[in-house]
Amino acid sequence: MSLGIAVVGTGYWGPNLVRNFRDSPEWDLVAVCDIDEARARSVLGRRSTVAVETSLERVLSRADVDAVAVATPVHTHRDIVLAALAAGKHVLVEKPMAESCVDAGLMIDAAQARDLVLMTDHTFCYTPVVRRIGELIADGVLGDILFVDSVRINLGLVQPDVDVFWDLAPHDLSILDHVLPGGLRPLGVAAHGADPLDTGKACVGYLTMPLAGGAMVHLHVNWLSPIKIRQMVIGGSRRTLVWDDVNPQQRLSIYDRGIEFAHQSRDIEKRAAATVSYRLGDMHAPALPEREALGAVAQEFADAVTARRAPLTDGHAGRRVLDVLEAASSSLAAQGALVPSKLTTDLVVVA
Ligand SMILES: NC(=O)c1ccc[n+]([C@@H]2O[C@H](COP(=O)([O-])OP(=O)(O)OC[C@H]3O[C@@H](n4cnc5c(N)ncnc54)[C@H](O)[C@@H]3O)[C@@H](O)[C@H]2O)c1
Repeated sequence: MSLGIAVVGTGYWGPNLVRNFRDSPEWDLVAVCDIDEARARSVLGRRSTVAVETSLERVLSRADVDAVAVATPVHTHRDIVLAALAAGKHVLVEKPMAESCVDAGLMIDAAQARDLVLMTDHTFCYTPVVRRIGELIADGVLGDILFVDSVRINLGLVQPDVDVFWDLAPHDLSILDHVLPGGLRPLGVAAHGADPLDTGKACVGYLTMPLAGGAMVHLHVNWLSPIKIRQMVIGGSRRTLVWDDVNPQQRLSIYDRGIEFAHQSRDIEKRAAATVSYRLGDMHAPALPEREALGAVAQEFADAVTARRAPLTDGHAGRRVLDVLEAASSSLAAQGALVPSKLTTDLVVVA
């Protein structure tokens, strides 16, 4: 028997959820809800029998709604998600999950108290390419991670309620949380941002995060670039991968190239004589299936609800991303100072 779902928010992203839940064999789309009724109606088309609602309360009071997918602006997430959980509905919430870690914690606790599934739509974690990158790293193909360099720039929609870090970096942060051994555990976060058009928020952002073991992550997010670049380089001690998401012919390339660095002597005086040699091996481009990630998101949400288990990108994954975003905002306010990450502090406490 299929599960009933309502999509709340049918602006830019919501229609993609509507389409994928409609196509999903696990879900029955029973309602869409938007404060702008005409917008919600236009997403469904004229012959649709799916209910259109402008009141969240009406949606949540429906017995045929088992779950809601929330694609409204970030500042509304907390209240909508908490109301849905209080009404006994499972929730898929768009990234970033909330405006703060505190709000995310409220959502996590509310879901746990009622044994409901709370999932964050970290869409990229469900793409074939990110799945493959995770496998390559887990299988040791790249060796130890030395650096991550990611560029996510294009002419973006300047968002009314969030800056470019909160809009675009959740993608990179959730991907890293998914693929890095041990997840997202930066030692600290340093952010530099610019607002050259005087919009009141950073439109160009650079985020630097040292990792344990000497590795470094650098993210560049930007709404002002006339060209679209979606590129991530993950350098390892054995191999380096390059993911170019705007090149569907060859999204992923794995280079058996790198630097071998060997000390000839343990004597500190003679360390200068270290040997550097270059490994210039082959490049390999694995074949990847082309599949819409949101289809896999819908499937994972249904599987988690049916089995009453945590989804791959649960509320804790959403909160880890928020931890870094909050540290980035603190760093911005402190002119780019390195702000310690709570994620690593927690790790130390646990260890
Ligand atoms: N996963 C992804 O790749 C991805 C991509 C884009 C946006 N998003 C996320 O999706 C969310 C929505 O972004 P968007 O760009 O679609 O925003 P948007 O402003 O285009 O659309 C939001 C819609 O929500 C409606 N709305 C606002 N408050 C409401 C309420 N209380 N009840 C019902 N409807 C309400 C608005 O009328 C509007 O139609 C954000 O969290 C954003 O970060 C995710």
